[in-house]
Amino acid sequence: MTKVLFLIGSPRGKKSTSFSFGIYIAEKLQGNGLETTTLIVRSQLASEEKTSQMLKEIEETNMVVLIAPLYDDCQPYIVIKLMELIAAKKMNLEEIKFLPIVNSGFGEVVQITAVSIPLYHKFAKTVGFNWAGSLAVEVGEMFQGRYGKLMPELGKTANIMRGILDNLADAIISGTDLPDMAPRTFPRMFYWKILKKPFAKINTNHWRKVAKENGEDADARPYLE
Ligand SMILES: Cc1cc2nc3c(=O)[nH]c(=O)nc-3n(C[C@H](O)[C@H](O)[C@H](O)COP(=O)(O)O)c2cc1C
Repeated sequence: MTKVLFLIGSPRGKKSTSFSFGIYIAEKLQGNGLETTTLIVRSQLASEEKTSQMLKEIEETNMVVLIAPLYDDCQPYIVIKLMELIAAKKMNLEEIKFLPIVNSGFGEVVQITAVSIPLYHKFAKTVGFNWAGSLAVEVGEMFQGRYGKLMPELGKTANIMRGILDNLADAIISGTDLPDMAPRTFPRMFYWKILKKPFAKINTNHWRKVAKENGEDADARPYLE
């Protein structure tokens, strides 16, 4: 039986968009007779025993799906740590497929594809994983993983994303490799040029409000003083 290991690389753990994507795909795979295991990287790194268990699971699976957010155009620390551990252990990974999924906060998917995906490519090549494609998802916060929401609970705006994850699950089930994908994940109107400025304004106002609520001033320029 094909075994697929989901590694959730969000420091938010189960309350993350990464987790909600992972569970959604895993359930589809289980429904089609594949065996899945889901590990939260942050929890696994908490002890030597759990870290060893995670590395053992990686060695014994047929496919690793690593799902993580974009942090500063890059991988979060816990994912970098995991990548270093895999590289240091020098495992035989040639038969194991590797597929990273990255979600970001901003609506510019190039922020993911420019650095983070090439880093995963380099990592896979270095440790010997068999590249099976990748998925870059912009505006991951829209899927409300941080509030513990799962994909089936979301409304119409998540239709396109559910379709993308369905296709990805189908490819895993049929053993087909995917290209590096950075699809549009929202209804067309979200990409209209005319709405770019108003969306940016709404976003800016939101961050100003959050800063104020936390006693900060978004317009502060301390280094200019
Ligand atoms: C420390 C930190 C750095 C981040 N850096 C970026 C970034 O460079 N670009 C971006 O678009 N989003 C960035 N984000 C936003 C996250 O990628 C975004 O909130 C994502 O949806 C979180 O996914 P998760 O729920 O799976 O953790 C950052 C968030 C944090 C906390």
